[in-house]
Amino acid sequence: HKDLLDISQLSLEDVLLILDTADYFQEINTRPTKKVPTLKGRSVVLFFAEPSTRTKTSFDVAGKRLSADTFSLAKSGSSLQKGESLKDTALTLQAMRPDAIVIRHEQNGAAEFMANRLECSVINAGDGRHAHPTQALLDAYTLREHWGMMAGKTLCILGDIAHSRVARSNVILLNLMGVNVRLCGPRTLMPYGVETWPVTVYDRVEDAVAGVDAVMCLRLQLERQQAGLLPDLREYAARYCLTAGRLALANAHAQVLHPGPINRGLEIAADVADAPESCILDQVAAGVAVRMALLFLHLTRKG
Ligand code: CP
Repeated sequence: HKDLLDISQLSLEDVLLILDTADYFQEINTRPTKKVPTLKGRSVVLFFAEPSTRTKTSFDVAGKRLSADTFSLAKSGSSLQKGESLKDTALTLQAMRPDAIVIRHEQNGAAEFMANRLECSVINAGDGRHAHPTQALLDAYTLREHWGMMAGKTLCILGDIAHSRVARSNVILLNLMGVNVRLCGPRTLMPYGVETWPVTVYDRVEDAVAGVDAVMCLRLQLERQQAGLLPDLREYAARYCLTAGRLALANAHAQVLHPGPINRGLEIAADVADAPESCILDQVAAGVAVRMALLFLHLTRKG
């Protein structure tokens, strides 16, 4: 594939190639010298029109560890703030002849819009509430490290599903890998059409986490709530926060994931975020290896 826009474009074979390639880079990332010359002379633009710590930094680290040159463009300080369109921004970046553009944007479909206009590879680093494929791949990588076999396991995604591109991409990927997915959150934060998704929806956290092999908490996306529909935060925490007591209902040693950034005490209790079962920082480490794999595979593709 020229681009990575969503998980739905990937076959299981594609996913396993990405995860196995990431395994190789994960090992390199434990060495004292982590830099390899693989992508020397190649250039990657990191175009982040929305805030990011993990995704942007890990793509930057990934590119640099592969000896590619990385260049950053943020919304603030760019001509987007002067009203330049996404199309003109795309064409301007293309004229500088990068090999790949990694894009995060608040609009659904922004990455596809760029990909349709550019010759270089476009990697979606999160578009609106639509997709965050590299996050889903690093989540699958993290789960595979712990579980070995994915098929037949059960995972609960808990929280603000409606606004979550992470949930959408994870549901597609985990389903492809044979994982049973449960969703739990307030009905007001369930996406329209969720009944057509390959998931089981629960209202009570206690029912949703009972007997699962992992729980993925999602951030309550305060910046995306519709006016007047913001849940009462104290009530939300009381009903949906993943506490140690609720986690105890899951299978022994069930993993806890969260894409970050976390709201401690809101969707996840602080002691759960810091517990041995928490894979939150493993996810960050996996993010570097998975993004190295993606840059490697996209920038060395033939044809
Ligand atoms: N998980 C994730 O996308 O985090 P950032 O917003 O910090 O990149």
